[in-house]
Amino acid sequence: MVAHVRTVAFHGVEAVEVDVQVQVAPGLPAFTIVGLPDKAVAESRERVRAALGAIGLALPPKRITVNLAPADLPKEGSHFDVPIALGLLGAIGVISSEFLDRFVVVGELSLDGSINAVIGSLPAAICANALGRGLICPRQAGPEAVWAGEDVEVLAPGSLIQLINHYKGTQMLSRPEPELEAAGPDLPDLCDIKGQETAKRALEVTAAGGHNLLLNGPPGAGKSMLARRLPSILPVLDPSEMLEVSMISSIAGELRNGRISRRRPFRDPHHSASPAAIIGGGTRAKPGEVTLAHLGVLFLDELPEFSPQVLEALRQPMESGSAVVARANHHVTYPARFQLVAAMNPCRCGHAGEPGHTCRRGERCASDYQARLSGPLLDRIDLRITVPQVAVGDLSLPAPREGSAQVAARVAAARRAQAERFAQIGRPDLRVNAQADGALLEAIAKPDDPGCKLLNDAARAMKLSARGYHRVLRVARTVADLRQGGQVRRIDIAEALSYRGASMSQRLAA
Ligand SMILES: Nc1ncnc2c1ncn2[C@@H]1O[C@H](COP(=O)(O)OP(=O)(O)O)[C@@H](O)[C@H]1O
Ligand SMILES: [Mg+2]
Repeated sequence: MVAHVRTVAFHGVEAVEVDVQVQVAPGLPAFTIVGLPDKAVAESRERVRAALGAIGLALPPKRITVNLAPADLPKEGSHFDVPIALGLLGAIGVISSEFLDRFVVVGELSLDGSINAVIGSLPAAICANALGRGLICPRQAGPEAVWAGEDVEVLAPGSLIQLINHYKGTQMLSRPEPELEAAGPDLPDLCDIKGQETAKRALEVTAAGGHNLLLNGPPGAGKSMLARRLPSILPVLDPSEMLEVSMISSIAGELRNGRISRRRPFRDPHHSASPAAIIGGGTRAKPGEVTLAHLGVLFLDELPEFSPQVLEALRQPMESGSAVVARANHHVTYPARFQLVAAMNPCRCGHAGEPGHTCRRGERCASDYQARLSGPLLDRIDLRITVPQVAVGDLSLPAPREGSAQVAARVAAARRAQAERFAQIGRPDLRVNAQADGALLEAIAKPDDPGCKLLNDAARAMKLSARGYHRVLRVARTVADLRQGGQVRRIDIAEALSYRGASMSQRLAA
């Protein structure tokens, strides 16, 4: 007899159904697993044998064959232990096939029969729901799995014996409670920043329109400080976004105790990070920082210090909103729609352009340093501003009265206006102005006559490319949304033009 248990394999953040078939046949005692298992799956044999022994069940001295179908899909990870063990229990008649048919199963076994946490329980639960089944997952993953839906049956046993007791009806498992991450310590607040009004305003525009931002200025000007305060003015995730972000955290094994969070992710990888760490991949496919920052912020401090390969590889996810990772025989696509905030010094010594400072290497110090950033990468950054040293007078001022809460309210209102507009013109898939381009942008951001004149004059004087022209329009649309004022006006265009890095070198400003 062949017993069937459903489980999943992960392909990107998606869970793909896998059928675990277990056959116990007469013959010389053997235990084989086939169907492209990786090392962790092949080792599952030993854990299953020991765990069954621990609950007092010896494997029958027969030929045991486990097939993981579809046979051509590679199976990675340790979550196949419990499905294989349940398949065996089904094949030897301890658990009925009717019971097994009701569930999708994931979990790793310890030698003593307890069930250990695994990654990806939330996507597995969503897959189970789509198949009209329930989910059996480790106890720790229960709170995350129940987010898949109220009508998904979730069993989260701590050990094999608890699961068998539940099946026999001697001790029933209760449904886990969904848990939200506690609000946690307060995010750093904008009111810590003295002076720097222009930079703070640019941060507000960035948050409102979902734009990318480059901060350029001498060390100690407060660039890192500003960037770290962006999450405090962004709106919290809505329920569908929360599920999207949690699926990624679940696959990456970053959900603590199965609790999911409403905060937007904020990732700040170090500049020594490898392309695989940033984009994803490695020997076992893992989402990279761009994916972990999905629907949140990716902060790259000291941008020119990142390796040229990383900077080059960033272009594709910034353009398409997804990261494609090449594997030996297939591609995996992860979502990666993030907001990039980057900070840099104007040159290697850090003080180019400051009054009274001359770099030791002269003019080339700044131009060589800035040349590390390619034009196509900079093209994707809507706002580029210069952050000067804080004026000494500003530092002794009392803390500003306006903090993150007030700014966040304006940002939320501006985001609502954008969502409504996109819904009205039949593009509910778009959420923020940063996603608008080309003809769509010209339709939604058409300035009034004085605005048109200013933009055309500026385009001529500054020799704006078509891309640069659209960038100004996009930012101006967000500025207009922030003041809750319908059509884009001349002042909006003027403000947008000021975020083009006028005092940086010609190349950065283009
Ligand atoms: N505008 C400011 N208001 C208050 N403190 C500031 C300001 N700018 C800088 N600082 C102080 O200087 C320190 C260094 O700032 P940081 O953001 O690390 O600078 P950067 O990243 O530009 O080199 C901060 O930790 C903070 O104490
Ligand atoms: Mg810094």
